[in-house]
Amino acid sequence: MEYDRFAEIYGVWTDTAVSAQANLGFYRDAYTSASGVVAELGIGDGRIAIEAARLGRNIVGVDLSPVMLERCRERAREAGVLERLTLLQGDFRGFTLPEPAALISLPYHSLGHLTTLDAKREAVRHVFSQLAPGGRFIFDDFQMTPTRLESFRQVQLRASFPAPDGTERLLWVTSLVDAGAQTMRVVTWEDALDGNGVLQERRYRPLSLSWLTPVQAQALLEDAGFTIEACYGDFSRAPFGEDAPEQVWVARKGTIS
Ligand SMILES: C[S@@+](CC[C@H](N)C(=O)[O-])C[C@H]1O[C@@H](n2cnc3c(N)ncnc32)[C@H](O)[C@@H]1O
Repeated sequence: MEYDRFAEIYGVWTDTAVSAQANLGFYRDAYTSASGVVAELGIGDGRIAIEAARLGRNIVGVDLSPVMLERCRERAREAGVLERLTLLQGDFRGFTLPEPAALISLPYHSLGHLTTLDAKREAVRHVFSQLAPGGRFIFDDFQMTPTRLESFRQVQLRASFPAPDGTERLLWVTSLVDAGAQTMRVVTWEDALDGNGVLQERRYRPLSLSWLTPVQAQALLEDAGFTIEACYGDFSRAPFGEDAPEQVWVARKGTIS
């Protein structure tokens, strides 16, 4: 699983990502205001869930990567909220919640780790099956534009930071994009430099990612039986438009009264 290796740099990755900073409050508030079971799919290191747990919310977290789940466990323990989390190792398409949920979230473009439309369809249908009547599914995806695709193709120095062993680390990223297939291979590499700036080691950590068009996202939700409540263009709930940075979908199992 790609995230088993990516886990080591996940904290630096999210600390330096504009969209990760932007989505935190949106999801945290959705978790704390839901009444009933809340589950986060792809809980990762618990970046969002732990913030909600600090406010008293119990969360079920699902993730395929045992290394990410262990990182989440450690961070929750340090925050003193481990007892508020139930962590399950499983796939977006095959998890079983202890009871039907009031809210299931899939934050931070993570549905895109399933790289075919069929796999995404299976996941969205499975989410529907795990919700209580009236329950909500909230997820976000990139709103991909030619300009955004071009920026993914650029090489970017993402962060410079000291490692625990005293070496300086540089984290770089670029992406190999297949615009037709709506997929990309995000390639990160981490350079370890000694005190003279000489490269000691380089580690690559690739991730497979993909995106949906808004039309595809709407069709997947409706096909699964969801009623669409909203599609926002960002995490401040601005209306969705062609130039919006994100697609933020809020869907309900059942009709909206
Ligand atoms: C971008 S991270 C998001 C983590 C967290 N939700 C956040 O916002 O910081 C994606 C997470 O989804 C998990 N993941 C990827 N594919 C998955 C799958 N098919 N089933 C379950 N988890 C998966 C990864 O292991 C990773 O922890």
